[in-house]
Amino acid sequence: MRVMVFSPWSNAEEWLRRLRAAAPELEFVLWPEIGRAEAIDAAVVWQPPPGLLEGLPNLRCICALGAGVDDLFAPGLRLPDVPIVRIADPVMAERMASWVLAAVLHWQRDFHLYLAQQREQRWSKHAHPDLGEVRIGIMGLGVMGRAAAEMLARVGFAVAGWSRSPKAVSGIESFAGEADRRRFLARSDYLVCLLPLTPQTRGILNAKTFAALPEGAVVINAGRGEHVVEADLLAALESDRLRGAVLDVFVPEPLPPDHPFWAHPKIVVTPHVASITNPATGAAQIADALRAVRDGREPANLVDRERGY
Ligand code: NDP
Ligand code: OXD
Repeated sequence: MRVMVFSPWSNAEEWLRRLRAAAPELEFVLWPEIGRAEAIDAAVVWQPPPGLLEGLPNLRCICALGAGVDDLFAPGLRLPDVPIVRIADPVMAERMASWVLAAVLHWQRDFHLYLAQQREQRWSKHAHPDLGEVRIGIMGLGVMGRAAAEMLARVGFAVAGWSRSPKAVSGIESFAGEADRRRFLARSDYLVCLLPLTPQTRGILNAKTFAALPEGAVVINAGRGEHVVEADLLAALESDRLRGAVLDVFVPEPLPPDHPFWAHPKIVVTPHVASITNPATGAAQIADALRAVRDGREPANLVDRERGY
């Protein structure tokens, strides 16, 4: 089986090395040195440009080099009708959970105030709610959201999750679908977005959502930049409807130098690092998926094209 690897990341060579080590019996070639397009059986990709996958007539499988697959459904791409596999990795999930925990604690323990005070050498104490009084609401209770919910609940926060279908996760209150959305938002002092980007979730962090949150809520987004309506977020922060935001994902990335988020006193920016894909565990998962396709079995972590995640 001959597998094309396409990655815009600087560590594309590392991925190639890891994939070769994980599946020495398969032949991996790094784009653009792929030889004849007809000889490629599978593709391992991140943000493939239009035309790349469409030009591989014998493709049997597409593996994403990450958890989110929205780029594969971008306008202009017409993916061949083959299975799409994504990464669903406990190591990535733990990374995401610890980023969300850090983002929540930053605001819950008033680090935004203390950092500002430190610059002025000002000694002033602020009261803060105890953990059990702080209600966290996580949009998306999949691999990432569930790990974050469980970690925050273990720490002592009051945690709920919102997903399409109801979930039974010990210690986590489950809300599902449009019918539950307002009740979920109304009890979320901290709203964490770990949704995939789909037509249904694009722009979900908007004025209507912010108005449904308790006054002074904090918004945390590590889903995709397109989940946020930027003007609505800035207005909600300006009016103090929201107390603060922590953002990891943007449109475009990198965030342009003149973007208002950079210098905003109520926004913490991190450069899409909430959960970086781990090449060691990721390569092992991709190798398993490729072997399954080669042997005619169904690979794990299949993307549902209808749902878009
Ligand atoms: P999963 O597919 O495992 O989980 C997605 C969750 O979102 C599911 O619980 C699903 O509900 C829920 N969901 C989807 N659509 C809706 C909707 N319309 N309404 C309510 N709930 C919905 O994805 P992951 O947890 O692995 O990843 C989530 C996203 O996180 C990725 O798509 C990516 O955008 C982002 N990500 C960001 C990273 C970063 O470093 N910033 C790293 C990795 C991922 P149900 O369970 O009912 O299907
Ligand atoms: C991913 C990401 O989806 O890194 O894996 O954002």
